[in-house]
Amino acid sequence: MVVKTAEFVCSNTQVNKLPAPNLPEYAFIGRSNVGKSSLINALTGRKGLAKTSQKPGKTQLINHFIINKEWYLVDLPGYGYAQTSKKNRADWEKFIRKYLTTRENLQCVFVLIDSRLEPQKIDLDFCCWLGENGLPFMLIFTKADKLSRVKCDQNMAKFRRALLKWFEEVPPRFLTSSEEKTGLEPILDTIADINAA
Ligand code: GTP
Ligand code: MG
Repeated sequence: MVVKTAEFVCSNTQVNKLPAPNLPEYAFIGRSNVGKSSLINALTGRKGLAKTSQKPGKTQLINHFIINKEWYLVDLPGYGYAQTSKKNRADWEKFIRKYLTTRENLQCVFVLIDSRLEPQKIDLDFCCWLGENGLPFMLIFTKADKLSRVKCDQNMAKFRRALLKWFEEVPPRFLTSSEEKTGLEPILDTIADINAA
């Protein structure tokens, strides 16, 4: 898929104020600082479209972008941000979970995982929660430029094995670097295929 246009639509904390669910929607989620906003910029080829930061906890709202006037791409706040209060974290959980379980046009949740890390409980738990709620998801491993391909493959295989304890089949996975703009095309093509289905 070629991204011809990518525009910011709105930011929200309230699920009932989101844009009308009249286009297919894809959400990007994962631990704080994993590279969600950077990936959205790399996928769309628009550097400043989603706000990025070296400091975790940058994205605080549900941010909608419209791509090619055909589908919504959604940047979500990260989970597991240690510096935030318990109350903030509970609020995050509530509104993200409400968004994910009620958004009727949501086609797929892309769960971003840092390719440098061994499987993290918080990511595995989140994938299990998606599975329990019948939400389709795929895995995107990020920051592939930071380590060798062999090490990336090892970490991805470990994650897959950990998920196999809970799932009969493991969802598709992608390996990306927003820095080097690699692994992006297969994600866009997957979205195009789902849109066309
Ligand atoms: P929150 O909004 O805080 O949840 O973070 P986020 O997941 O949106 O992460 P963001 O895109 O803001 O990136 C966090 C940091 O990781 C920034 O310093 C990015 O430059 C860096 N980063 C993101 N993707 C990559 C990548 O593919 N390679 C490298 N080397 N750095 C990356
Ligand atoms: Mg962000």
